Parts: sequence; C-alpha cells; structure tokens
Amino acid sequence: MKKILLLLSLSLIALSTFAQSLQSPNKNFTLNFNVTDGVPTYQLIYKNKVIIKPSKMGFEIKDADSLLDGFSIVDTQQSTFDETWKPVWGEVKEIRNHYNEMAVTLSQEETARTMIIRFRVFDDGLGFRYEFPEQENLTYFIIKEERTQFAMTGNHTAYWIPGDHDTQEYDYTTSKLTEIRGLMDKAITQNASQTPIRGAAVQTSLMMKTDNGLYINLHEAALVEYACMHLQLDEKTMTFGSVLTPDAQGNKGHMQAPRHTPWRTVIASDKAGDILMSHLTLNLNEPCAIKDPSWIKPVKYIGVWWEMITGKSSWAYTEDVPSVQLGVTDFSKTKRSKRHAANTEHVKEYIDFASKHGFDAILVEGWNEGWEDWFGKSKDYVFDFLTPYPDFDVVALREYAKSKNVQLMMHHETSGSARNYERHMDKAYQFMNDNNYTSVKSGYVGDIIPRGEKHYGQWMVNHYLYCVKKAAEYKIMVNAHEAVRPTGLSRTYPNLIGNESARGTEFEAFGGNNPDHTTILPFTRLIGGPMDYTPGVFEMDMTTRNPNNNSKVRSTLARQLALYVTMYSPLQMAADFPETYNKHLDAFQFIKDVALDWDETLVLEAEPGDFITYARKEKGSDNWFIGRTNDEEPRTSKIKLDFLDANKKYTATIYRDKKDAHHKTNPIAYEIETMEVKKGDDLSVFCAPGGGYAVSVVVR
Ligand code: NOJ
Ligand code: CA
Repeated sequence: MKKILLLLSLSLIALSTFAQSLQSPNKNFTLNFNVTDGVPTYQLIYKNKVIIKPSKMGFEIKDADSLLDGFSIVDTQQSTFDETWKPVWGEVKEIRNHYNEMAVTLSQEETARTMIIRFRVFDDGLGFRYEFPEQENLTYFIIKEERTQFAMTGNHTAYWIPGDHDTQEYDYTTSKLTEIRGLMDKAITQNASQTPIRGAAVQTSLMMKTDNGLYINLHEAALVEYACMHLQLDEKTMTFGSVLTPDAQGNKGHMQAPRHTPWRTVIASDKAGDILMSHLTLNLNEPCAIKDPSWIKPVKYIGVWWEMITGKSSWAYTEDVPSVQLGVTDFSKTKRSKRHAANTEHVKEYIDFASKHGFDAILVEGWNEGWEDWFGKSKDYVFDFLTPYPDFDVVALREYAKSKNVQLMMHHETSGSARNYERHMDKAYQFMNDNNYTSVKSGYVGDIIPRGEKHYGQWMVNHYLYCVKKAAEYKIMVNAHEAVRPTGLSRTYPNLIGNESARGTEFEAFGGNNPDHTTILPFTRLIGGPMDYTPGVFEMDMTTRNPNNNSKVRSTLARQLALYVTMYSPLQMAADFPETYNKHLDAFQFIKDVALDWDETLVLEAEPGDFITYARKEKGSDNWFIGRTNDEEPRTSKIKLDFLDANKKYTATIYRDKKDAHHKTNPIAYEIETMEVKKGDDLSVFCAPGGGYAVSVVVR
C-alpha cells in the first residue's frame, strides 16, 4: 500500500512538474511545459529520451519589469493541424504540414501583463514562439535580451561557426560542446570575422550529434521584424541561451503589441538524413503571399564574376581608386581600366556562351558607377543602381540578350548602405523591368549604413524583407548576399530564390574552404533555405587567373558537379570561365543537364562532416540526378537504385574521381562512364579526398 502511495505521489510530482504535455502526431516527440516557481519551463523528449532538459523561457525588458518570472497559467488550448501544400519551387512536389499545437496563456499578476507561448510539435521536431497580445500594460516595449534556453543533455559534438552579428562567412569547426570556447579565437581569426560575440557563442542553424547517435538541430523560423538569434553556451549547465543581435543603441528589439517572435526550432532524429529532409522550417512560415507566382522560375546562370573574385578583372571602371581622388565626375572622360570586365563586347561573349549551352541568365557585376567611391569609402552613398559605366551599353545588351534568348541578371551592390538602396529602389526595379532583368543579386558588403546597425539586427531584417516584397511588386526574383541567414521565408515569398549568408565558393579564391564544408552546410545553413553557393569551378589553381592569387580550390572537379545536387537551390551558377568549360565539355554536360526543380528528394547516405549522397527526381520527368560530396577522407559510396521505376529503362552517366584524384594534388582527375541501369541495381563509387561524384539517370 505504501509503495502504491509512493508511486502515486511520485507520478503526481511528475505531473505537477510538467502540467502541460503535447505529443507529435507520430508520438515520437513529447513536449512538456510548466510554470515552475513562476518561471515558464519546457522540456523535449524524443523516443522516450530527454533531448532538451528543463529550459527556461522569457525576456529581459528595458526600463521595465522582466518577463522572466511571476507567471501563472491562465489558459491552455490544444489543436491539431494537417494540410499538404505545393511549394512554388522546391526539393519535393508536396509538403505535409502536420502538427499538434498548444497555446499556453500566461499571466504575470504583479504587472498585469499577458504572454502566450505557442508550441507546435511535428513528427520531425518542435517549434515554439512567444506572442504578446494587445493589452494595456504591454504596448510598446524594448527587448533587452531574449532569455530562451536550450539545455543539452550531454557534451554533444557540434558543427559550429562563431556567433557574429555581421557575417556567417566562416569555415565550420567540429568539436565537443565543451571545446567551443577554447577553439573560438582560432575559429574567428582564421576567418572572415566582423563582429564576433566570443565566449562560446555560435550561430544557428546549429547541428549537433549526441554520443548515442541522435542528431539535433537548433534554428529559428519566420524571422520577421525581429533580430537574428545566436546561442551562447554555459558549459557548467551545458545550456545554450539566446543572444539577439543588438541595434546601434545596444537594444535587441523594438516591439509593439500585438506582436510575436519568430519560431525557435528543434529538429531531431536518430537518422542524419531526416534532418536534411525536415520541412519543419518551411512549415512554420506562412503560406505563399504572392497571388500569382507563375513568373517565379528557377534560374541556371553564368556570370562575369569569377574574373573579379579571382582578381583577374575589376568591378571598377578605373583602377579601384576613389573617384574623389581621381577627380572623376564624368566617367566618359576618364581612362578605362583594361581590367574592367563588365564591358559590352565581353558581356556579349558570355551571352553567346549562355545561349549556346542553354543557360537561363548571365550575371554582370561592375556594370554601374560607384565602385571607385565604394573602395575609397569616400561617401555615405555611392550607387544609384541606374547609371552604367560608359563601356556598358544597357540597351544594346538588352537587345542582344533578347535575340539570344538569354536573360540578364541585375547586380545591386549596396555597399551596406541600406537607406541609399531603399531611396533608389523603385527607380532601380523599374529600370530592371524596362531592360528585361528578371532577377537581382543584391549585396551588403562592409559595415551597415546607417552606422552602428548590424547585418543581423532587427532594422536590417526589416530591410531585407522590404526589398523582397518590393521586388515582388515588380515581379523580380531576389538573391541577397551578406543578408541574414534564411529562416524559411521563401515559403511566403518564393521570389526570394537565394541567399548567400555563409561561406561560399568565392572563398575558394580567398584561401579555400575546408574539404568537409559542403558535407556540413546542408545540415546547417540550408535548413533555412537555399544558398547561392556558385559551384562549378573546374580550374583549381588560381595563379592561372591571377599570378598574385595562390589560392587553390579544395575540391575535385567531380565533386564540383555533385554540388548541383547536394546544395539544393532553385538558383544555380556555373562559376568558372567559358574558356575553362570549353576544355572540359564532357564534364560540363552534367551542369547543362542537371535539373533545378524537383518532385522527389531522397537522402541515400549522410553524416555531417563526412559525406552526403542525395538522389533527386526532376520536376515533371522520370529522370534522376545523384550527387555525393565527400570530406578529406577517401571513401567508397555504396547506394542502391531501388527508387527507380521498375517499368522503365535508364541510362546512367557517372562523373567520378579517378583512383588517383585528390583535391590537393590531382583535383581534375575525373572519368565518365555510361551504363544501362534498372531499379534495384547497386552502385559502388570511389570518392577521393575532397571528392565526390555526380550521376544523371535518364529514361531511355
Ligand atoms: C560579395 C559577394 O558575395 C560577391 O559575390 C560579390 O561579387 C561581391 N560581394 C561584390 O558585390
Ligand atoms: Ca569528416
């Protein structure tokens, strides 16, 4: 009897510790919530194992009582939601959005303020956000800091980049959680640091693996009107705490109720591939806001770009000297640099190449006035996004491109002057409409103007979305570089077809990316949306482009092909020079063939930091494309073609590393084999250090 009583009271304790519970539709996840001593606290369980220990939730508020404690639960509402929606572009044809929801209304009696915490538990993880309903005592307020915790259960392995308010362009470090602090300085100094947070602060999406083989990913979804979140680890308790990006005054967010925060997300599985296949981030975003998105189309492009990145050519019309120093007011009276690549003749060569090989568009950077001033930082605002240099004939190129059935892709480098861009935006987008530019690559290099704002602060987050919405009015697709990392907003605004927000291929010309970089990015950066990674570099030695550039691409050629499949994006560039592709037209064929939009996606092999193999079925066709990216270890990939249609015959073309290929010593050693394949066939393919392979599987 005593025992029964004890058990009863124990279970009552358990119940009272977590008064509210919510399970995922498949019952794999259980979210527990309670107010413990007035503090909102949640816990997450996956397959009967705790993966997030009891973690506190709340806010410090500027010049007011905090929203951290003194709460009690006044209402709890549970509901279920199940829909299937079709993305405008994507990795799959249809996405199921199925979750159980719990909205807990909390009252802070002493201040008479109310806050709702809304939880959604999906079959692949958890999302939760804070909501501030309209109320008397909480209308305008300033967030001093968000205090959301993610308490880890052990010393997991993390694949991380340093927390930074202005850049994500870091190489990843793989280490135990307790090692992050010690490795931080090295991770920062070896990389493109701007305003690193230091301590043990890391960026999201953060990928982790537990010693028991569980994969856990922390990120956020639907970052709107709010600052980007980083995570600071307290090693004593193994707990991450949220760190929001400050504004110029050091505040973390200006709020006006009714308002809510972005979703904080936890994706978890015992299979690495499930993290890659999770659609939780997209599902937590609002449905498409563009009524008729038929003008939004995937884009395969080349560009007058790699020449500048490698240092062979210049963006500026003159020799990168501030025009103030040069005394330039009229470029037509100024001597043009031979290195200026964005000139009509040269661009026509690119148009010819794009047209010959079936590319949709060509990107031309350095076409407009302002680059001289920007490099000299002589003015607050330099670009008007309208005035071409005298050697770039907008109308002639418009007509030439039209005649060749190729689009031109606009480039708007803002030099970080967001206000200047906003001032010129309507005219700049109208100019694009008038001259047949359907997409824009924008950029935010350097410190943000107005001074003191950060790339990832609330003010800039608002700016990026303003651009995307404004662009949609002009039916323009946006690929914003240096902007805040994506959080699934492309579900709502599918004209946001790309972002950079990570270390891209350009760094292969600035010293190189770690060979395992592309085995981590899909687990981290790509969780929020596609990246304009710009693969397809076939010449790995940069001294051939610029004798002063000793950088070497740390990838084999075969792996460069694989990236078109492993780095999912509806926007894909072939970065290298036409003359390089002309030397390897057999390998180039894969870039021409590979699809940009998919009906199905499968992860065949995956381990963060080691390798990823995807198979994807082209939209509206029976053809498949397979890609494998490999880290610095030689490995053999073994896959089964059991996803093919039993009633169809296929020809597979395999582009792979030769046995003696190596990213350091022999990166261009590839071989191409064509064979007939059928459903159920096994494929075993060697992957060199820094290598990989690509396969097209085409119906005969
Ligand atoms: C950095 C971008 O990532 C790169 O692609 C671009 O060419 C330069 N900025 C110049 O805008
Ligand atoms: Ca590895």
